Amino acid sequence: MIRVAAVGDIHMGPDSQGLLRPAFETLPDCADLLLLAGDLTRHGTPREARVVAREVADLPVPVVAVLGNHDHHDEQPERVTAILRDAGVEVLEGEGTVVECAGGTVGIAGTKGFGGGFVGRSAGEFGEPVMKEFVRTTRRSAESLHAALKELDTQGCTARVALTHFSPVADTLAGEPPEIHPFLGSYLLAEAIDTAGADLAVHGHAHLGSEHGMTAGGVRVRNVAQPVIRRAFNVYRLGAA
Ligand SMILES: [Fe+2]
Ligand SMILES: [Fe+2]
Repeated sequence: MIRVAAVGDIHMGPDSQGLLRPAFETLPDCADLLLLAGDLTRHGTPREARVVAREVADLPVPVVAVLGNHDHHDEQPERVTAILRDAGVEVLEGEGTVVECAGGTVGIAGTKGFGGGFVGRSAGEFGEPVMKEFVRTTRRSAESLHAALKELDTQGCTARVALTHFSPVADTLAGEPPEIHPFLGSYLLAEAIDTAGADLAVHGHAHLGSEHGMTAGGVRVRNVAQPVIRRAFNVYRLGAA
């Protein structure tokens, strides 16, 4: 059994230092690793990133993260990434990593993802250059997620997890206004997950959404945005392959 703790959208700033640390220090008792599903900061500033870094530094379990749209707002995602990496966080963007746990090896493929919407109501790669670039951004992200999951498959992981900020399915957006679904996720991410294979998909971003969903291919999807799960993290169990 592999125990995966996850939370997203912790949106930390200078006034939130220390709020999550006591809960994170209990992680070794209940989880093998911690996933952070993006929107770790409010505006993506280095100052905010340092708050997050101190909150997770030297935790006794591995920490794997993707950035969210808020972590890009100050247009310094590379600095945010570097500050988190200095604190020991594995920050993924279009790549995978393998964590050795007592119950087996878990492979995590991560990308921020992007919007575009869901089947039948989605943006197309057509028309104005800016519209094409919007959809291409999502497509490239989904392709990188697919490639990373496939690569993890060749490494014989006991379980594979897809970690994104944007949602791969509409299920976990239930509670959000349908009009904004195209800005909350894309079916291209779910297609990547289903065609490459995964045991669990974890995302954030949809603060008003719901926790539980599933891809068309039957992969469990969990929205771990903190306003949804209303706790420091949730723990999901993955069985042996
Ligand atoms: Fe958020
Ligand atoms: Fe977000």
